[in-house]
Amino acid sequence: MATGNGQGTKTTLVLGGTGKTGRRVAERLAGRALQARIGSRFSESPFDWEDRTTWAPALEDVGSVYVSYYPDLAVPGAVAAVRSFAELAVENGVRRLVLLSGRGEPEAEHAELALQEVVDAKASAEWTILRSTWFDQNFSEDYMLEHVLSGEIRLPAGDVPTPFLDADDIADVAVAALTDEGHAGQLYELTGPRLLTFAEAAAEIAGATGREIRYVPVSLEEHAAEAAGHGVPAEVVELLTYLFSEVVDGRNANTTNGVRRALGREPKDFSDYAREAAATGVWGGGR
Ligand SMILES: NC(=O)c1ccc[n+]([C@@H]2O[C@H](COP(=O)([O-])OP(=O)(O)OC[C@H]3O[C@@H](n4cnc5c(N)ncnc54)[C@H](OP(=O)(O)O)[C@@H]3O)[C@@H](O)[C@H]2O)c1
Repeated sequence: MATGNGQGTKTTLVLGGTGKTGRRVAERLAGRALQARIGSRFSESPFDWEDRTTWAPALEDVGSVYVSYYPDLAVPGAVAAVRSFAELAVENGVRRLVLLSGRGEPEAEHAELALQEVVDAKASAEWTILRSTWFDQNFSEDYMLEHVLSGEIRLPAGDVPTPFLDADDIADVAVAALTDEGHAGQLYELTGPRLLTFAEAAAEIAGATGREIRYVPVSLEEHAAEAAGHGVPAEVVELLTYLFSEVVDGRNANTTNGVRRALGREPKDFSDYAREAAATGVWGGGR
């Protein structure tokens, strides 16, 4: 396979480049000595989904883009924003767009279609879609970290099994799509290798840390009230309520071969993630 950034000497713009997947994508590009620009509100070249005047400067001399929307493709306005961004990107000469999407979210699929339509209308440009399930790193790099630290993961997730996926795997697929040939026009449905309930995930984390950590199923209403009580902004509470009611209803309770199809290897198991995250000390305890 040919490698490079797919676009000669042009830069890759990594949206959300300090977030859970974007940071890993940017690190991998830097590791290959490829030019990359982080696009986020507080990066050197600021990019804000809410401020379109920031988009064109961030796209200067850019040949490919990792598109990670924030906060979620399910929020109102996300589909229109992704469409407009893709239009501006291809007008500015971007040849490759890799979109991070959410598995089992109808709105995310609308955003995928919008980006595909825009890119397909430009013969010289290509898209790849990474339709991902829940990340392992939500337990260590996002709002679920506080739950783990408190010893009780109190979520409205019932006993639905989820094929948690490691952000390292997403970043590997993203970088392959950005830099290698053979991923254009591919929609990769990405999951981890194994289904775990939240209780099983909590037990894995407990085992890796040597701490007592348990999952406590709560209702959507209890979860919303508790999150608001912990100072989580109202719009985030609303988004979490939507995600737990819509996406964690069993529709994603199966694994796929997306990582193998994209990379020719199996995805990382949750127990490896838990062991590695525990070793960083992020959860306290230590084994
Ligand atoms: N978490 C999951 O399990 C999961 C699963 C499937 C799909 N996804 C998708 O992944 C995407 C990212 O979600 P995430 O939870 O992983 O978040 P994340 O990437 O960890 O989010 C943080 C990143 O977004 C940037 N950011 C925040 N507000 C922004 C804005 N207004 N404009 C531009 N950049 C902004 C942050 O940098 P600054 O603070 O510097 O702006 C940071 O780089 C979402 O579209 C989500 O639907 C997530």
